[in-house]
Amino acid sequence: MDYMNIALAKGRLASETMDLLREIGIQFNGWSENSRKLIFEEPVQKLKVVLVKANDVPTYVEKGAADMGIVGKDTLLEKEADVYEIMDLGFGKCKFSVAGLNQIQSTSYHKLTVASKYPKVAKDYFYKKGIAVDTIYLSGSVELAPLMGLSDVIVDIVETGRTLKENGLRVIEDITDISARLIVNKASFKTKSHRIHRLVEDMKHVLATKGEEDHDEAYQS
Ligand code: PRP
Repeated sequence: MDYMNIALAKGRLASETMDLLREIGIQFNGWSENSRKLIFEEPVQKLKVVLVKANDVPTYVEKGAADMGIVGKDTLLEKEADVYEIMDLGFGKCKFSVAGLNQIQSTSYHKLTVASKYPKVAKDYFYKKGIAVDTIYLSGSVELAPLMGLSDVIVDIVETGRTLKENGLRVIEDITDISARLIVNKASFKTKSHRIHRLVEDMKHVLATKGEEDHDEAYQS
């Protein structure tokens, strides 16, 4: 039996995924959140996890270097890889929002400028609203752009809203909800269909049980 390779976005999504896999009985040798290793194996079921940058997860899966991947919907919307998106894992929840200064300046005399780590998402969103925008790609600390006069607004991920608040920005409009998704290489979906489906069913079962527990807790409190 071949190894089945799973690409995980480094960081919180990887930890949550490893927790989920452990709950379905899959434990990877040597895994710890603080390890600097990039490959972990489970030799019994022949699974291999590789830790990559979120942006590279769709690339690994599309090209077939990984059979499956787990990555945020934010990355999938920006990258549009040729893969199957087969499951919403329900964790890593946040949203895409348009945000700007509390006192937003009038932009009526020039084209709206939007700074974002996600220029495609930003452009698509404003295009659908019939608003032409100039996008500026930034690789992080996007909140600085309106403060420094680099852009009128930003399109970014908002989770707790703390980063916006602590920098004197506010949400102007929400674009869409985001969460972790399971993606699968199109060829692997056929050749390793049985193993993929079993894994998906096991994960669904654990997530459904958790969902019921969360619901019960919320009901009791
Ligand atoms: C993300 C995002 C926001 C922040 C939102 O940044 O780009 O800046 O998290 O989270 P909050 O609503 O809970 O404050 P990240 O931590 O990835 O750092 P970056 O700015 O370097 O991209």
